[in-house]
Amino acid sequence: MRLNKYIAQAGIASRRKADELTKNGNVKVNGVVVTEMGYEVQPDDRVEVNGRVAVLADKFVYYMMNKPKGFITSMKDEQGRPTVMDLMTDVPVRVFPVGRLDYNTTGMLLLTNDGDLANKLAHPEHEVGKTYRATVAGVVSKKRLAMLRRGVDIGGFITSPAEVTVVKQTEKSAIIELTIHEGKNRQVRRMCKAVGCPVKELQRIAIGDLYLARLKEGHYRKLRKEEIDYLKNL
Ligand code: URA
Repeated sequence: MRLNKYIAQAGIASRRKADELTKNGNVKVNGVVVTEMGYEVQPDDRVEVNGRVAVLADKFVYYMMNKPKGFITSMKDEQGRPTVMDLMTDVPVRVFPVGRLDYNTTGMLLLTNDGDLANKLAHPEHEVGKTYRATVAGVVSKKRLAMLRRGVDIGGFITSPAEVTVVKQTEKSAIIELTIHEGKNRQVRRMCKAVGCPVKELQRIAIGDLYLARLKEGHYRKLRKEEIDYLKNL
């Protein structure tokens, strides 16, 4: 397997970044620096990136979780807050979250030990649509809806066109669904705030064609074969 693919599958860096690391002399194979990007990793090779050994999983596993509020999407938290890993109680191998959801956002989170797929899904070039259901304060007028759809300035960045629909409007709040194709930090919250309708509740209901459906908050399940194939073929 080519060196960059090997490093990506081990979850250390994207293929592109792996090439850079290799070129810059940060990669060793069997204790010797290798700068040749096309190097083919052999079965008994020991690959190290900045001193960290890159190990491939024996078997890739893929999970979907419905993240509850009050959990962070990283492996560990410096401040000791609960992480989504605390919920993965019966998973025999180490998996990591694909992308992030805010501490207070609920909904779909994918977890895997397939670093290559995780990198691919996170990469802007392949940025798959992510659909959120948001309860926002105020009235989502036609003008505000048009702004959200067209793109809004969220502080030095204009968002790309998004699909947005109003599911329900009451006197003081609304439920809207938005599909965005990029993943800036707290993007949905910043978009809604920018049009004057701050988010009160936020849930991710889909990633591409994968839907949360009836998965309960705090629960997780293995992805089905066709779901894994779908993600791989994106
Ligand atoms: N947008 C947000 O504002 N928060 C999330 O958690 C995800 C998308």
